[in-house]
Amino acid sequence: MNYKFPQIQEVASRLTDPEIIKHQGKTILRSPELGKLFAHLKEMDSKDRAEFGQEINQLKTELLNMIDNQEDELTVLDPIDVTAPVDINVSSEKHPKLLSSSNGSRHPLMTEMDNILDIFYRMGFSSLESRQIDDDFHMFESLNFPKGHPARDDYDTFMTTEGLIAPAHTSTMQNRVLIEGKKLLDSNLPIATVLPGRVFRNEDVDARHGHTFYQIEGIYVDKGINTGNLISTFKTFLEEYYKQDMEIILQPFYFPFTEPSFEFVLSCPFCQKQGCNVCSYSGWIELGGCGMIHPKVLKMAGIESDIYTGFAWGFGVDRLVMMKHGIEDIRHFMAGKLEFLRQFS
Ligand code: DAH
Repeated sequence: MNYKFPQIQEVASRLTDPEIIKHQGKTILRSPELGKLFAHLKEMDSKDRAEFGQEINQLKTELLNMIDNQEDELTVLDPIDVTAPVDINVSSEKHPKLLSSSNGSRHPLMTEMDNILDIFYRMGFSSLESRQIDDDFHMFESLNFPKGHPARDDYDTFMTTEGLIAPAHTSTMQNRVLIEGKKLLDSNLPIATVLPGRVFRNEDVDARHGHTFYQIEGIYVDKGINTGNLISTFKTFLEEYYKQDMEIILQPFYFPFTEPSFEFVLSCPFCQKQGCNVCSYSGWIELGGCGMIHPKVLKMAGIESDIYTGFAWGFGVDRLVMMKHGIEDIRHFMAGKLEFLRQFS
């Protein structure tokens, strides 16, 4: 648009630059250049004043229209599908080359997770996935680790600056499952739940330790449950999973949330106790922790610990799968190497 007054024309040609409109938006209407034009208006003699005032208003309208158009342009931008493997707004020649889906396969850990869950379903358990971000109450307090408890140090993990926690174990789900399960107990049904999930630890990574791995937690609560039930449940599961007879040893251990607590160790399914590099030539492999749920943990979920008892366990899925397939290094699971993954497709 052309303006008759050179001062206005000069300001207009500067302010109507699309780049300036884009950066300044509505604040452009408070720009010093416009302020100066208004100041000049006041000093003008009456002959041109009305016309000068009109032109300033025209300039303001022009600027407002440009701002509005630009906002419209922003709102009509093509939507972005954040789940798409490529930017759909970019021409297809610029898309990265993707392998066809027939080249892909399920990750061995997920396939095995399904196999494991399937066995527990057949044993009457239900399942619930554990969370990948949780809070101090579920990670510690509800499991009988009060603030300052030294055993908290064994679960050194990652935290957000707001104090949320990337869980170091799937036991974070126990309190939730017990509270929900109380209704089952009231109807004379047991609580029988497995909790698969991804867990995180501040770990010195090596062939047997990862900072990110998978666990399956299990909880069983009813009247008259004892350690014998724990052993038989576990033995049944392992024999079904490895399709062979297994020996299990419970070694005394300490967890704040079980009493008594154990670490369970099983005969190496890979070498049948002959000794191999999977079991470090000991014939035995430590798989996880377990025990009888501490009365305080039951009480914290509102379950009467004089009437009900239960067992719980947590074992590492990666280790179980490593033993099944003779995988020597836990880091293969996260490395994303096709040579490794294709062996399981
Ligand atoms: N959460 C423990 C860990 O990761 C394992 C564990 C031990 C889970 C005893 C349990 C349990 O449910 O009862 O080290």
